[in-house]
Amino acid sequence: MIITIVGGGSTFTAGIVKSIALRKAELEVDEIRLFDIDKERQDKVAVLVKWVLEEDLKSGIRLTVTYDPEAAYRDADFVFAQMRVGKYAMREKDEKISLAHGCVGQETCGCGGLAYGMRTIFPMIQVIDDAKKYAKPTHWILNYSNPAAIVSEACRKLRPDARIINICDMPIAIIDVVAAALEIKDKKEIVYDYYGLNHFGWFTSIEYRGEDIMGKLRDYIMEHQILLPDAYVKSVGKIAQNSGTEGNRHAKGSWYYVWKGVYEIMQNFPDTLPNTYLNYYLQQKEFVEHSDPDHTRANEVMETREKNLFEGIDHYLATGEIDESVFYAGSHGDWIADLAIALKNDTKARFLVITENRGAIPNMPYDAMVEVPAYIGKNGPEVIAQNPIPLFQQGLMMQQLTCEKLLVEGCVEGSYRKVLEAFTLNKTVPSMKVAKEVLDDMIEANKEYWPELK
Ligand code: NAD
Ligand code: G6P
Ligand code: MN
Repeated sequence: MIITIVGGGSTFTAGIVKSIALRKAELEVDEIRLFDIDKERQDKVAVLVKWVLEEDLKSGIRLTVTYDPEAAYRDADFVFAQMRVGKYAMREKDEKISLAHGCVGQETCGCGGLAYGMRTIFPMIQVIDDAKKYAKPTHWILNYSNPAAIVSEACRKLRPDARIINICDMPIAIIDVVAAALEIKDKKEIVYDYYGLNHFGWFTSIEYRGEDIMGKLRDYIMEHQILLPDAYVKSVGKIAQNSGTEGNRHAKGSWYYVWKGVYEIMQNFPDTLPNTYLNYYLQQKEFVEHSDPDHTRANEVMETREKNLFEGIDHYLATGEIDESVFYAGSHGDWIADLAIALKNDTKARFLVITENRGAIPNMPYDAMVEVPAYIGKNGPEVIAQNPIPLFQQGLMMQQLTCEKLLVEGCVEGSYRKVLEAFTLNKTVPSMKVAKEVLDDMIEANKEYWPELK
């Protein structure tokens, strides 16, 4: 049993590997392979991965580190993809170019997300083709690579038979926070209903051991005026403190507004718990106002997660001491490893996945890539039927979905007009003129990565 991690140099790799290795018995995994196009970065991360597998867990799992696609994919059972095409340097440009034009500057939402999508579509198709060529015919690709909404639409359109499931950890992270807020220890007992597009959805119910806790949660959020419980700040803060960093990143900087925004949205629309990403579409003006156009999330991440990881590896190489907090991935690693268990062992466990609608949301198009709960077995997701969604959500989702579809079409056809239509249609963009200005700057910045647009 072989698991290949594409984007082996990611800040999340060591954490994911730990989640896999802790599930060795259920996954029956013999070998983990790391594959990346950045040798220096992956070689560094591999030092830590080796420590996790050999020293920390004495797992007996073999590690292969490679830059050759054939060696990476040959006979693989699972491919876990987590590429960041253009790395943080391009994320920084996505965010700052958008903000320079007064638009939301964000990794996966608005113009930044569209630009990132244009970079990622073809590398992702390459992963699918390489896996098809070399991996086992029964392989599954579990993809975290963002922007997952655009990536999943491109995969559906260009490789409809690909054995790929696109996933996101944000709803899980939100449930972690909800559990901490309501002091629920066994969060595995929480069951929820959710629908949307990726980074664009709503929890419609949340139950703990059969009890509806949405009302309690709403009361908590209204009282605290934020969805960021003290307990959570303290627990994550402790991990960060150990590594000598400045406390919990999620409680400060741009993340603060993410959790504050849940309160602001629920003040007006109290019936559902919004995905935090809806802030960028429903509070686009306010987001721009509190953003620092010279210091965005990309900078925050480079100064914390990335810096801590690579300094931690250097510290280990110099002293032999490991500080696990530098690669802690928590639910992010557990989610993808648990999904692999459901596929491999045909458990039919319920997961939230990004998948073709196929009627699950009756008043959304059949072929929309939606994020809904599904039962996961060896043949992939079996989507669970939803009720028709309200007109407000349907309208928002149709606008976003159409924007994403136009972007994918524009990218594949090399059509400037379609990509401009996508930018113009995005809810974070105030006018056609602004859309064109941002797009033209994005084309210039992405010369190395985007197909030519005519
Ligand atoms: P990172 O920059 O630390 O790591 C990404 C790695 O991908 C780098 O080592 C880079 O060299 C490599 N890479 C780039 N292009 C590649 C290609 N064509 N083939 C193979 N490798 C390639 O980034 P990170 O912050 O650790 O995030 C990794 C990815 O996971 C990003 O796409 C991020 O958006 C995504 N992510 C998604 C979720 C989700 O909810 N879906 C959650 C967290 C992170
Ligand atoms: C959540 C989302 C991911 C996103 C990440 C950004 O986990 O689900 O899709 O990549 O947040 O986090 P960052 O710390 O890199 O801004
Ligand atoms: Mn996500």
